[in-house]
Amino acid sequence: MQRTLNGKVRSPVGKDIEVFKRITTESKNPDKTNVLIMGRKTWTSIPERFRPLPKRINIILSRTMTETPTGTYMARSLEEAVSMVTENGNLADKVSSVYIIGGSSVYKEAMDFAGPCRIYLTRVLADFDCDTFFPEINTDKFIKLQNCEDVPAGRFTENGIGFEFEVYDKFVTDINSTRMTFNIMAAMCSNRGIGIANKLPWPSLSKEYRYYMDLTSKTVHPGKKCVNIKGRVTWQCTCMEEKSRDSIINIVISRNPSEEITSDPYVHKVVASLDDALLYVRTTLLDQVETVWVMGGQQIYTDAIDHPQCNHIYLTHIYGEYQADTFFPTFEDRFHEDKSIALDRTLHEERGVTYKYKVYSPRHQASC
Ligand SMILES: NC(=O)c1ccc[n+]([C@@H]2O[C@H](COP(=O)([O-])OP(=O)(O)OC[C@H]3O[C@@H](n4cnc5c(N)ncnc54)[C@H](OP(=O)(O)O)[C@@H]3O)[C@@H](O)[C@H]2O)c1
Repeated sequence: MQRTLNGKVRSPVGKDIEVFKRITTESKNPDKTNVLIMGRKTWTSIPERFRPLPKRINIILSRTMTETPTGTYMARSLEEAVSMVTENGNLADKVSSVYIIGGSSVYKEAMDFAGPCRIYLTRVLADFDCDTFFPEINTDKFIKLQNCEDVPAGRFTENGIGFEFEVYDKFVTDINSTRMTFNIMAAMCSNRGIGIANKLPWPSLSKEYRYYMDLTSKTVHPGKKCVNIKGRVTWQCTCMEEKSRDSIINIVISRNPSEEITSDPYVHKVVASLDDALLYVRTTLLDQVETVWVMGGQQIYTDAIDHPQCNHIYLTHIYGEYQADTFFPTFEDRFHEDKSIALDRTLHEERGVTYKYKVYSPRHQASC
């Protein structure tokens, strides 16, 4: 969101500042605060009367500064700053989202960081003399979102300068990274049921199924595929149309696979655990894969929710209680609803069943 010339931030438009302020200040958790991580030169480019930027935790990266400015924190590297705000870091329990606000080398390091990352970019549609530049966005790693609710859509003009807001997300599976991530896909009713007698507890919902198939089988990059990881019973409940999709690589988890499973032409690989499935993807399939989905059942979901590589839970909430014998584990203490991810959030009604799509992200997740 920043462009600099001789240490001055060139941000000629008020709306840009307004959006920057709103996104970086609004916390998804009212008890927690967002963090701004910035290089020393970005810190000094902020007019003194505005420093530290209010209602956000300011962390300055510097190897040379000897004194920590009042009301800020100091880190010697981006890695040190991230470790302060995640997992066991001293700020971890105070922090909602983490925003990297420059400069050039910090942006670059953050964009190369293994793990999830989102870029909010204000594209100013004019050339200016600059001595610091935003790194090139690698489109093999980042995808531009078409309708991100976080930023106003369209082109704006202020002081004769045109600009627009863009949002990019790192692919769920960062194929160039050693830390591969996966998503969970599930539908759960109000009593947390997901299945009964090897079927879904509610009547089949064609629109919900289309949404599920779009996410778990479609790719942005031609030639890439989606990995679908399923427990043995879930696999046996899967319909042929889904099993045989060319764009899906099916991995089935079973401790004692029967011949029916091992000789199934649509099963790419049978493994003994979720970890084995992820290891197989990382070591054997990575160059073919765009996204990895974990799709149940109950024990597999439990293992996936606790897994450090779990990126998002895409959960359809089916309103109403249905008789069930398999259930979705509790996850609400470790995940928060993530409204920054583009999703149809309207209430749907089909065959007398009302439902809504939601997506959840782990708490304390660093994002650009
Ligand atoms: N609503 C939804 O989103 C959703 C999604 C998926 C499934 N479902 C429903 O859930 C039910 C099926 O789920 P389920 O929980 O009963 O079965 P499941 O997880 O699909 O399959 C259970 C089998 O998977 C293998 N397995 C599971 N965890 C394992 C582990 N940690 N290590 C090794 N192997 C493991 C074992 O296979 P072996 O016995 O071969 O060793 C186990 O018997 C069905 O009713 C289905 O319709 C609903």
